[in-house]
Amino acid sequence: MYGNDFAPPEDAPGGGLLGEVEAAEAALREAAARARRGGAAPDEDVEAYFADVINADQKIEPRDWMPEAYRRTLIRQIAQHAHSEIIGMQPEGNWISRAPSLKRKAILLAKVQDEAGHGLYLYAAAETLGISRDELVELLLDGRQKYSSIFNYPTLTWADVGAIGWLVDGAAIVNQVPLCRCSYGPYARAMIRVCKEESFHQRQGYEILHTLAHGTEAQKAMAQDAVDRWWYPSLAMFGPPDGDSTHSAQSMAWKIKRFSNDELRQRFVDMCVGQAEVLGLTLPDPDLRWNDERQAYDYTQPDYAELMRVIKGDGPCNRERMAHRRKAHADGAWVREAAAAYAAKRAERKAVAA
Ligand SMILES: [Fe+2]
Ligand SMILES: [Fe+2]
Repeated sequence: MYGNDFAPPEDAPGGGLLGEVEAAEAALREAAARARRGGAAPDEDVEAYFADVINADQKIEPRDWMPEAYRRTLIRQIAQHAHSEIIGMQPEGNWISRAPSLKRKAILLAKVQDEAGHGLYLYAAAETLGISRDELVELLLDGRQKYSSIFNYPTLTWADVGAIGWLVDGAAIVNQVPLCRCSYGPYARAMIRVCKEESFHQRQGYEILHTLAHGTEAQKAMAQDAVDRWWYPSLAMFGPPDGDSTHSAQSMAWKIKRFSNDELRQRFVDMCVGQAEVLGLTLPDPDLRWNDERQAYDYTQPDYAELMRVIKGDGPCNRERMAHRRKAHADGAWVREAAAAYAAKRAERKAVAA
């Protein structure tokens, strides 16, 4: 094993992050077996029912009443997540034709294709909240909904594909494993599958970096340079520090979010230090050191002013990413039209036959 957090249970206390995903999946199955009733009874107070479901760690389903703000929060979060998966295909897609071997190309293709799949599961989960896929795409293309700012950084060398897998997919998993226990059923279920696939992404990135770091001096330098560039943007993926985070408290109360931004960021740092040692690469933080009292690593915070600039549209690749997405959407118009015409024709034939 490569020293990552996805080792088998006997190697990682509590089974590691993937162990947590398995446990969340088992809990979901159990909850489904326990609660077979179809939402609140007609004479039941729907607000009380909602509160009961949340308190009992059960799942809210699309048929259930939910507060409007809960619905809106979920739409915003799931949509942003879906957009990130789709835009996130670009930085790595950029390397598919230049992967150094056929094997590397096949692996990267599969990974980028997985990200498309994640986008689709998540758009489908958002649609259960009463918004259409067309509306969601429009909100992205108009710039009214965001995607993760990490994808506005360029992929300059092949080692960036490794650093993205290790750090960006790694940070994504740390963020997403707790979402497997999110109170909204369709989102929680989508996250279980997404997290399992993300663990493969993290490993493939780690393996690329491991190979480079144990290759020639030039290859090792390329791996180090990629880690130097991706480290702080990856830390910024957890969002602003807890004191400045606007949506956190309510999301925690609704059990959409289970841990604060800073808690998750710390968990990620603590996970990466040992993995970097196995790689033989250095994390670019001279102040990174173990704090015995806190039982965690002290580390330098990312530049949150830069994060805000990139979120607002001023990252190195924001314009390029959106232009590419708009063009892809326009180029795909004939496919959507053809699919809609085919579906209409089939429906018509079915109606005639009936
Ligand atoms: Fe993904
Ligand atoms: Fe991924």
